[in-house]
Amino acid sequence: MSVGAVVLAAGQGTRMRSSRPKVLHPLAGRSMLGWVLAALGDLSLDRAVVVVGHGAEDVEATLPEGVVAAVQHEQRGTGDAAAIGLRALEGSCDTVLVLCGDTPLLTAEAIRGLLDAQRADGAAATVATAHLSDAGAYGRVVRNGDGHVERIVEASDATAEELALTEFNAGLYAADAAGLEAALAGVGSANAQGEVYLPDALPLLEGPVGALTLDDPTEVLGVNTRVELAACEAVLRARLREELMLDGVSMPDPERVYVDVDARVGVDTVLWPGVHLRGDTQVGDNCDIGPDVVITDSTVGSGTRIVAAHIDDSEIAEECEVGPYARLRPGCRMRRGSKAGTYVEMKKADVGEGAKVPHLSYVGDVDIGEGSNIGAGNITANYDGFQKHRTTIGARVKTGSDCVFVAPVTLGDDTMTGAGSIITDDVPDGALAIARARQKNIEGFTERAAAKARAAKEESQGGNTT
Ligand code: UD1
Ligand code: MG
Repeated sequence: MSVGAVVLAAGQGTRMRSSRPKVLHPLAGRSMLGWVLAALGDLSLDRAVVVVGHGAEDVEATLPEGVVAAVQHEQRGTGDAAAIGLRALEGSCDTVLVLCGDTPLLTAEAIRGLLDAQRADGAAATVATAHLSDAGAYGRVVRNGDGHVERIVEASDATAEELALTEFNAGLYAADAAGLEAALAGVGSANAQGEVYLPDALPLLEGPVGALTLDDPTEVLGVNTRVELAACEAVLRARLREELMLDGVSMPDPERVYVDVDARVGVDTVLWPGVHLRGDTQVGDNCDIGPDVVITDSTVGSGTRIVAAHIDDSEIAEECEVGPYARLRPGCRMRRGSKAGTYVEMKKADVGEGAKVPHLSYVGDVDIGEGSNIGAGNITANYDGFQKHRTTIGARVKTGSDCVFVAPVTLGDDTMTGAGSIITDDVPDGALAIARARQKNIEGFTERAAAKARAAKEESQGGNTT
């Protein structure tokens, strides 16, 4: 039996109140549609079609290889969309799965269960359903005497009696492909929304329609508003955290940890509250991350400690220390055992093995050699108002507090700089550079100044009494 899938994703998602197509809204680092396609991807189907319409180009651009788009130019309803998808399958599959692009919690197991039920019962179609005491806006499932699905009635078309039904349509169907295509051709749009409803094809099928009732309604929650988007994201994030914890990652307060789907974390790493691992971020073993750390598209080596930091597109090696209050802008590379300490900002900085930038510094467009120590409050003046320039600092360099390096400039190996120096010229290996005005002590100045002030005061008071 060859199986194809049609994912309905053409709707505008009016209730999202967004300029972005509904199915492209992200949850835990992946789009709504991406989650549905990921569940399908685990099933190795013969063919998958996504029906696009609203924001078609944007949606199509996100489709993985092998998944084709079929365009629904006018959103005339789920039945019309399904028919367009089926046409794009070009009769290549006996069985078709129809899914909605707005049910991101769906798992491969649930879909597999539906396919198994469809095969076992030899039904014309099988609908996934679940129960909710108040099924809200979902379509209600009306069963016939022998327990098959007689029809599905949309909430907006339902009578009070039908609305009281707890079993709802999850929007996930398995059907005989040719049979469904034929039935859809006979569906009209005489209903409250004036749309061609996919569920209206079910009573027109030749043969009984079965139902697979899922124990957990969470699996099939559909997103129509941002409130539902947030609820689904919370479920996905909880699943991702649980996987990580079972794989050996500690989270003392898991609900305050946010890990995107593509992030990876090694064993015995602790994620404290307020940690966000976004995008393609990899964290090694035995790390201590947080509280309050946002890391995006970066790698962090094992044994590294990061507290209160914001890190983008950077590479941090093993046994490093970052923060508290550190900002690594894109393009940083911290080598083994290096440090970016308190109130330190870095950008395109290559920090050598064991090198330290402990306090209150900005280092950008810089190479720092191994074992060097950058004094408190150092700045690389990398921008002359027109262009950026690089600073090169050798190995085992010790810079004094409050130095400015006016790039382009090079400090050789084993050099030192005096505190408060503004370094504009290259410093040869082994030299000490001091670039500041010499101190001058003015002897007895304080007493002379005080005496002068006293005299002036007396003179002005004498004037007032006459
Ligand atoms: C639909 C079902 C409802 C079910 C619910 C489950 C219908 C008529 N109703 O309602 O019984 O309980 O899903 O979540 O099917 N779409 C298109 N083209 C269109 C219209 C919709 O591609 O012309 C897509 C949407 O992008 C969306 C999916 O179909 O991904 C479902 O559409 P939506 O408007 O959300 O239907 P619901 O009202 O949720
Ligand atoms: Mg919906």
